[in-house]
Amino acid sequence: MIVSKLPNVGTTIFTTMSQLAAQTGALNLSQGFPDFDGPLALREAVARHVMEGHNQYSPMTGLLALREQVSAKIARCHGAQVNPDTEVTITPGATEAIFCAIQAVVRPGDEVIVFDPVYDSYEPSVELAGGRCVHVQLNPDTFAIDWERLEAALSPRTRLIMLNSPHNPSGALISRQDLDRLAELVQARGLYLVSDEVYEHLVYDGARHASVLAHPALYERAFVVSSFGKTYHVTGWKTGYVVAPPALSAELRKIHQYVNFCGVTPLQWGLAEYMAQHPEHVAELPGFYQAKRDLFCDLLDRSRFTFTRTPATYFQVVDYSAIRPDLNDVDMCLWMTREHGVAAIPISVFYQTPVEGQRLVRLCFAKREGTLRAAAEKLCAI
Ligand SMILES: Cc1ncc(COP(=O)(O)O)c(C=O)c1O
Repeated sequence: MIVSKLPNVGTTIFTTMSQLAAQTGALNLSQGFPDFDGPLALREAVARHVMEGHNQYSPMTGLLALREQVSAKIARCHGAQVNPDTEVTITPGATEAIFCAIQAVVRPGDEVIVFDPVYDSYEPSVELAGGRCVHVQLNPDTFAIDWERLEAALSPRTRLIMLNSPHNPSGALISRQDLDRLAELVQARGLYLVSDEVYEHLVYDGARHASVLAHPALYERAFVVSSFGKTYHVTGWKTGYVVAPPALSAELRKIHQYVNFCGVTPLQWGLAEYMAQHPEHVAELPGFYQAKRDLFCDLLDRSRFTFTRTPATYFQVVDYSAIRPDLNDVDMCLWMTREHGVAAIPISVFYQTPVEGQRLVRLCFAKREGTLRAAAEKLCAI
């Protein structure tokens, strides 16, 4: 009998809910992916590159043309200069970038700070590196960092902090002042930071995403991760990138080259071409998703769910205390899916210790107008 290296890992709630949605025919607002396609010109570009023979391994660090586009986009959006040769690495998804960054710095016995509610890939990656996650709860109402809790959780064994902003599942944004404070901690204690910024362009109401890329003191010790899947509506392409100072990138690449070696070549060609020809895509993204958020929230205003409009990401967290306070959030999601035809994700699964009495579920609004209208109608009938 094999002794599991990850005894606590089972089927994730994302798989469970998507499967249940498929079985019951429910509208799937659970897992975070669009029900519409990426831009036609992008898909055509990839198809053309496949047909033109761009089908062999790319360089281990990623296609230079794509790394240059990433660097140009970072200069445009975050006002930071990063060297495409030594600081940008293309990876098969943000997930692989996060995994490699963790393996690069975490040694057996190290502790890694994660903020709950936390994205589910971090902890298994830390455990495989021989480390241990120390969970620090975000403020349960605002999902901001609770500095007292953070300072209490730090120890001489702390090696790395995992940050995620814009935050999945809450949509909360970290502030520039928070980055200043984090930089002080990271520098004083010689820590590292992984900054998961896959929703960097999904920020609404004129707010700005405070990227670690635009914070030189923090960037010195950081791996900043993003995902083309989120930005170009092509989550199934599993293509992302990680930006880190040269010495950190060099260590990450040692691992990346044996986990995957390189990303998928024709996807990289297509993305590089599309990014060069359509820089407006990124600039238009906040408006595109804000319109979806507003449509969905305007419709949900008539429901018995309560919520504040999310400032970022394509997730809207809603409180169901007024509807079924007797149900925990997992049972609420099962009930909503089976009885009311809308699949959602419970928030408690993002916690090591769920917040007592919290009655929140996450709905994904990266959906066509028809899906959002149909889902809202069902949600208003609950
Ligand atoms: C916070 C966060 N990080 C990372 C990822 C993974 O991105 P990718 O599909 O590019 O691996 C996701 C996807 O849902 C996410 O929500």
